[in-house]
Amino acid sequence: MRVLSGIQPSGRLHIGNFFGAMRRQLELQAEHECFYFIADYHALTSNPAASDIAGRIIDLAVDYMALGLDTKKTVFWRQSDVPQVTELAWLLSCVTPKGLLERCTSYKDKIAQGISPNHGLFAYPVLQAADILIFNSDLVPVGADQKQHIEVTRDIALRFNNSYGEILTLPKEHIIESVAVVPGLDGRKMSKSYDNTIEIFEPEGSVKKKIMKIVTDSTPVEDPKDPDKCNVFALLKLVAPDDELKEWEGRYRNGGMGYGEAKKRLAELLIDYFKPYREKRAELEGNLDYVNEVLADGAKRARAVAAETLARARKAVGLGAQ
Ligand code: ADP
Ligand code: TRP
Repeated sequence: MRVLSGIQPSGRLHIGNFFGAMRRQLELQAEHECFYFIADYHALTSNPAASDIAGRIIDLAVDYMALGLDTKKTVFWRQSDVPQVTELAWLLSCVTPKGLLERCTSYKDKIAQGISPNHGLFAYPVLQAADILIFNSDLVPVGADQKQHIEVTRDIALRFNNSYGEILTLPKEHIIESVAVVPGLDGRKMSKSYDNTIEIFEPEGSVKKKIMKIVTDSTPVEDPKDPDKCNVFALLKLVAPDDELKEWEGRYRNGGMGYGEAKKRLAELLIDYFKPYREKRAELEGNLDYVNEVLADGAKRARAVAAETLARARKAVGLGAQ
């Protein structure tokens, strides 16, 4: 099976990204041929400053590699190093009804937030479809928020194939085996846009400070507490070994435990969990030439596949010498 996924360089990775999506993507490398890329064309839809996006792209590459991207097996590249994808996006645009894109909830949400949409934002799902289809992907592991974009991809591929023949492979399914939504410091979904994140690679001191600020209720120390309603416990679940988690659950329910104590332990566990990745990150940061080589090699491998699909699609629609 060929597995493909993209991630936007839109800010520092947080533990919601990791436990919600990336961990599973990295695990899939053991069983499948994986194609993972940095979706920098997509990131342009929000018009970042040039210097910001350049820095975020390299940071994301280093983060991904530190977290366990297998650079020997997995093809890893910057989306914009494979420009063939924008040409396929145009061919797909011409079979995509405008109404299909108008129904996309991520687009509607942005408009509801008062963002004045550019054409790139509107056409975003078509570029995503091109990303998926140009590499003949079978599986696209993404978070639940992206489910509709995979459905749109299948719809567009069907329309293209109906008009021009069986050129494009439909992604068979999308798998999202994520943990429940990871809560942020304020109890809402952890998200860059809510400024409530714990970044994977922020300094350890800052991780500790943030954890001490996690919102909890005002149940007195001696009273029993409901672990299932506690943001600290929800995060403990991600990093505590099973037997320790059971112990905490008992202590919550029995009373006599303060949230401060649980927070301190959470900070220790979280810092320990990411320690090896942090070390690997520091090593990679000192060797950016190597990171750039990996991306260049990935782009070469990705372009070979993309060029082949694009050539078939161009021929099918009647472009170029026949
Ligand atoms: P953000 O909300 O911070 O902008 P993104 O939308 O860039 O995060 O998320 C990238 C991926 O990480 C998505 O596939 C999404 O499903 C997953 N993800 C993000 N935040 C969480 C969270 N709090 N819990 C679980 N998964 C998350
Ligand atoms: N839209 C995805 C996100 O914001 C990123 C993305 C771009 C993607 N192209 C893709 C994900 C292709 C999967 C497949 O998270």
